[in-house]
Amino acid sequence: MAEKTTALKQAFSEALLTVTNMEELEKIRVEYLGKKGLVTELMQEMKYLSPEEKKVFGQAVNVLKNEVNDAITQKREELKQKEIELENSRMPVFDLSMPPVLDRGSYHPITLVQRQCEEVFRSMGFAIEDYSEIVTDYECFEALNIPKNHPARDMQDTYYLDNGQLLKSHTSAAQNAIYKKYKDALYNEGKPINAIFPGRCFRNEATDACHENTFFQMEGVMVDKNISISNLIFFMKTMLSEVFQKDIKVRLRPGFFPFVEPGFELDISCLICGGEGCPSCKHSGWLELCPCGMIHPEVLKAGGIDPEEYTGFAFGLGLTRLAMMKYGVKDIRDLNSGSLKSLAQFTDDK
Ligand code: PHE
Repeated sequence: MAEKTTALKQAFSEALLTVTNMEELEKIRVEYLGKKGLVTELMQEMKYLSPEEKKVFGQAVNVLKNEVNDAITQKREELKQKEIELENSRMPVFDLSMPPVLDRGSYHPITLVQRQCEEVFRSMGFAIEDYSEIVTDYECFEALNIPKNHPARDMQDTYYLDNGQLLKSHTSAAQNAIYKKYKDALYNEGKPINAIFPGRCFRNEATDACHENTFFQMEGVMVDKNISISNLIFFMKTMLSEVFQKDIKVRLRPGFFPFVEPGFELDISCLICGGEGCPSCKHSGWLELCPCGMIHPEVLKAGGIDPEEYTGFAFGLGLTRLAMMKYGVKDIRDLNSGSLKSLAQFTDDK
């Protein structure tokens, strides 16, 4: 019996040496420790033994089981570490201490991600719209189901101008104008409204490494008959997988915004660890990226669209956040600093 445990241990050690990724490791784990695994089978042989033999053999199998378990855990850690190192080595290196490249101009990292997103959405038939930075209270709030004195206004600490207009606090401020612009084509020609509208937004934030008073968002809407949450998930997943050049998993959590019902926070699988959990994602495997939801009937109505007949989704992608994630920028303030030392490094993309 003792030979059996030794032989199994030997076979396991040899098999473990050939493992190069998590899937292979999982296969081996099941092969040895699974319900019908080799170690488990060995345990079952105990029933044919005398009580004394049982004691000795039982102990040996338990030792073996623990050793196999420990070796698998250790290998898993090693593989995880390797994956993180590989992923880090693929991230563009953003180095504040690099001397600036002054002999040619370069695109701002936010322009780069904005153009990538535009490219992907354009290929999916979306129109790209621009909108003003100074908007009315109606556009920014009332048309979005946020009446005067509604507590939801507190979510966005807004800069008001003396004439009653304001600096747009989110790109959703353009929604009403977009619906009005495209609704005739929707009604008369059956053309779905699908548009994205990137833009600069302003909020009175206390600035730190993660908060700025000026940032970029990219809003997207799609309105047609029978638009559902599945359409929203499909478009977001496709766009993000293209931008990050890998398969991105997404998940939705409930989130409150008065202009969507139901409303969600969309998370993506962590770019560094792929969902396994690492310091970047606070070991959750997920990164919060994009609030979204199904457009509230009142908002469609305000845009001249009958919510009984049409439905739609809207999302508000944080372009600034996306650029920080994509290029590994740690301090948001570097982006608006105008410092060539940091910004001139983004020259290799279009
Ligand atoms: N405009 C919201 C914000 O900036 C985000 C959002 C857009 C939420 C679209 C849902 C739908 O806070």
